[in-house]
Amino acid sequence: MYNELDRTLFQSDGRFLEIFQLWVHPDYRRAGLATQLKSKLEEEAQYHNVNLIYTHTEAVNDHVIELNKKIGYQEVRRGPIWDDIIRVSLIKQLNVSN
Ligand SMILES: CC(C)(COP(=O)(O)OP(=O)(O)OC[C@H]1O[C@@H](n2cnc3c(N)ncnc32)[C@H](O)[C@@H]1OP(=O)(O)O)[C@@H](O)C(=O)NCCC(=O)NCCS
Repeated sequence: MYNELDRTLFQSDGRFLEIFQLWVHPDYRRAGLATQLKSKLEEEAQYHNVNLIYTHTEAVNDHVIELNKKIGYQEVRRGPIWDDIIRVSLIKQLNVSN
């Protein structure tokens, strides 16, 4: 599936960071925890000179897509991956020194 994405989005050494299966306890949702966690992830990626974070989610998860777009992710693919479920692939590109 990664081969379907534009190669030029990725840095030359091919490294990138993925995040999946984010889960916040229902009692603590809408308090910015997922946003904070993803912000921390960006710091970690930059620390390791990785310029791209990748995630995907089922297309029915509008709130997850909204969350990601709000913090600068862009949709790069929409379609089935390993089964018939439509999944939306999103990436965030970061400024790094390499
Ligand atoms: C998705 C999930 C991780 C979000 O965690 P969270 O800590 O509540 O998210 P945040 O507080 O950082 O939300 C940031 C923004 O995302 C959007 N958002 C998040 N949850 C939303 C919801 N249920 N409905 C609508 N928008 C939502 C909002 O724009 C929100 O900003 P706002 O609260 O100021 O309106 C959490 O709802 C969860 O664990 N859900 C069940 C598991 C899941 O679906 N995981 C994703 C698998 S791909």
